[in-house]
Amino acid sequence: MISRSVSSPEFQYAPAKNIYWGKLKNLPETLRGLALTDHDTETHRGNWRAQFLASAGKNPGATIPLHVEVGCNAGHVSLEWAKRNPDSLYIGIDWKFKQIYRMAEKAAKFKVKNLLAFRANAERLPFMFAPGEIDFLHMFFPDPWPKKAQKKNRTADEAWLRSIAPLLSSRGVFHLKTDHAEYFEFILGEIERLGDVWEVLEMTRDLHAGNPDAKKLTIPEVTLFERLFIKDGLPIHSIRLRPRR
Ligand SMILES: C[S@@+](CC[C@H](N)C(=O)[O-])C[C@H]1O[C@@H](n2cnc3c(N)ncnc32)[C@H](O)[C@@H]1O
Repeated sequence: MISRSVSSPEFQYAPAKNIYWGKLKNLPETLRGLALTDHDTETHRGNWRAQFLASAGKNPGATIPLHVEVGCNAGHVSLEWAKRNPDSLYIGIDWKFKQIYRMAEKAAKFKVKNLLAFRANAERLPFMFAPGEIDFLHMFFPDPWPKKAQKKNRTADEAWLRSIAPLLSSRGVFHLKTDHAEYFEFILGEIERLGDVWEVLEMTRDLHAGNPDAKKLTIPEVTLFERLFIKDGLPIHSIRLRPRR
């Protein structure tokens, strides 16, 4: 279980027993710079774009879109986006060491330079990114923690939704999808309470309604989990939000 204290400035990631923690801390030459873990994900707060541009030999002051995908698993969606849009920067974040290591391996295999894999807790987002740094924030199928005693573990609650709004740029959009109807209604309730923070751009409880070919959709139009949910006939709930300024 992830402690709430994760969102405090004093929080320290502890060394983990997972062998992939060690592998991420000491990346082989082939993966160097493609993945970061723990507090290393907070070392370039406010500078991720400039850092990427400089390492690509481009003007570090150039304006390029920064996408962040929270709970990206092994980065299937962000990897495809990064391949298709080499002039945008993508950062995928997940809590699982092995998935993030796999993501870095895939970036190396496909020679994708504009993708970073972060093994970190989504609750640390304000420590990873400076106000206005992110253009597009994506959260696809966050763990719903359905049982009453588990609900306190939900990432997308009022406090988190309030904390991430300032991180988006003036054109910034936050997109969230879930198959879990009750979690979606919970999120809508939190957003209603945050009417001074977020503006709802689009909201649907059945994203693929009217698409008889939804089962044929592939990554990145749909995520790995989304494909399974569509196969099971579950409606996909989706909301796009823009921070109020
Ligand atoms: C249900 S999966 C969805 C994966 C992917 N987005 C998809 O749609 O195929 C949820 C993912 O969120 C990650 N996750 C859960 N809580 C997290 C947290 N606090 N910080 C970062 N990642 C988290 C899990 O490790 C898992 O990979």
